[in-house]
Amino acid sequence: MDDWTNRVYLADCLDVLPQLREEMEGQVRLIYIDPPYYSGTRYSLRERGCDTGRRAATVTETPTYVDRWHGGIDQYLEFMRSRLSAMRPLLREDGSIWVHLDWHVSHYVKVLMDEVFGYQNFVNEIIWRRTNSPKPQSRGFGSQHDVILLYAQDARSFRTKTVYRAHDERSLRPYSYSDERGRFRLVEVEAQGIQRGARRRRFEWRGRVAPYLYSREQLDEWWEQGLIYTTRTGRYCKKQYLEDIPGVPVSDLWLDIAPVQGSSKEYTGFLTQKPEALLRRIIECASDEDDIVADFFVGAGTTAVAAQALRRRWVVCDSSEVAVRVTLERLADLCGGDGPPQYRLVRLEETPVRHDWASGRGQVDSP
Ligand SMILES: C[S@@+](CC[C@H](N)C(=O)[O-])C[C@H]1O[C@@H](n2cnc3c(N)ncnc32)[C@H](O)[C@@H]1O
Repeated sequence: MDDWTNRVYLADCLDVLPQLREEMEGQVRLIYIDPPYYSGTRYSLRERGCDTGRRAATVTETPTYVDRWHGGIDQYLEFMRSRLSAMRPLLREDGSIWVHLDWHVSHYVKVLMDEVFGYQNFVNEIIWRRTNSPKPQSRGFGSQHDVILLYAQDARSFRTKTVYRAHDERSLRPYSYSDERGRFRLVEVEAQGIQRGARRRRFEWRGRVAPYLYSREQLDEWWEQGLIYTTRTGRYCKKQYLEDIPGVPVSDLWLDIAPVQGSSKEYTGFLTQKPEALLRRIIECASDEDDIVADFFVGAGTTAVAAQALRRRWVVCDSSEVAVRVTLERLADLCGGDGPPQYRLVRLEETPVRHDWASGRGQVDSP
């Protein structure tokens, strides 16, 4: 592994995974996949030509992949089962896999993930708001979100780094107090509501008997540091200064990452392209520099681009020639401090994948 080279595979990932297992079993820190969603759609790449002074630019559409399943949901789930099972051995003990889906099959794949990775290794179901303008529906509600299922290789060894988002008007509201150090909000040091169970130990601290959430030593330390605030009713609270908090800790509801817009710099015209900010968040919170990050359905190359920017090693794969072409173009456009990224392109003989209903392998149709 010392002479590592990043890799782009043009292949069905099912053919690549056994090879990778021989080389890097138990060494991949993070796998992100954004596979077909069982959406019943034919996807394409939309490319805009140049405006000539006389005529508006024309848009060409090149087919990329087909997310249609002749054998129905069973065939789709078999497709996913074989590939997810082949991915698991690659993961490090403290590694994780993030599976990006939407309403079509996220519930079925959750059950499949429980089977392949173990229910006990489920960490989160992340909801990403993928659009601000859902299409109106004749019945029911417009869909506005995708689902990302996060599983650890072993939940006991896995931990994400805390992620913060920028403050907004609402999150700043509680910071309505201020002193010479700046704006602060009050954090309870006494158990409230249901936390005030009979078994919680009450003790006296600075003249007030209460079911404290912290030890006497901890409260003394905060007192010495000037971090304890006494309310008008004599209750103690801890001061949380705005400047000490890098932002609002992010939950499993991701509303702050915008989808890729036609006008954005990263837009490639690849219809299912995900925003770089989404991949950066995932990679940053669940891996470190030099770790290996993999994506076996890389599409327009977003994972490779984000991993490269964050100084991770990476291996990506896609069975569509067009997807790989877009990925390589994006990588060529990267010019970090270390120059363009170094990688090897590996084309397996069986590619591109075509429908093969008999064996149930591959679903990517030729145009
Ligand atoms: C939803 S797109 C991925 C989009 C990507 N996350 C991005 O940001 O551009 C799914 C990709 O999976 C690829 N794909 C489908 N079946 C595959 C297979 N068996 N092996 C590898 N890639 C496959 C498709 O060609 C397509 O590019």
